[in-house]
Amino acid sequence: MKHNVAILVLFAALLTAVPPLWADPDKGRALYEEKGCTNCHAINGEGGAVGPDLSTEGDRKDRDRAWHIAHLLDPASVVPGSIMPQLVFDEDEAGHLADYLMSLTAATAPTALLAPVQPEG
Ligand code: HEC
Repeated sequence: MKHNVAILVLFAALLTAVPPLWADPDKGRALYEEKGCTNCHAINGEGGAVGPDLSTEGDRKDRDRAWHIAHLLDPASVVPGSIMPQLVFDEDEAGHLADYLMSLTAATAPTALLAPVQPEG
């Protein structure tokens, strides 16, 4: 009996650690429109300027999927004093959005919109 409980606990831990198979960036993109994220954030030149530009959010090495999920579910819990509203209440939705945000990189943004690269030296 004890053995079964241990296996269940391990299985639950695995389920929460691995990105769900059903999470996908296209669903995230649709949710991004639905939730009105675009009112405050610009992506590739389109959208508001209340929050940071998200065109290259996926290039940030200090943020992973778990950070994005936590931030979407409760922005002020990871960014103290954040004025970003709580718009996502479902972990699956937060996962889709996180996958979408992480797919936004310099490689997907039109080069004309990116800040000029500073010469090294
Ligand atoms: C009312 C305006 C507003 C709306 C709507 C909004 N945000 Fe934000 N967002 C902000 C502000 C302000 C910040 C900066 C503070 C913070 O990080 O919480 C921010 C920060 C972020 C960041 C971190 C960006 C960075 O590089 O620091 C991400 C990612 C983000 N928002 C995604 C979203 C998504 C996805 C949605 C839609 C579900 C959304 N936001 C809706 C205002 C908004």
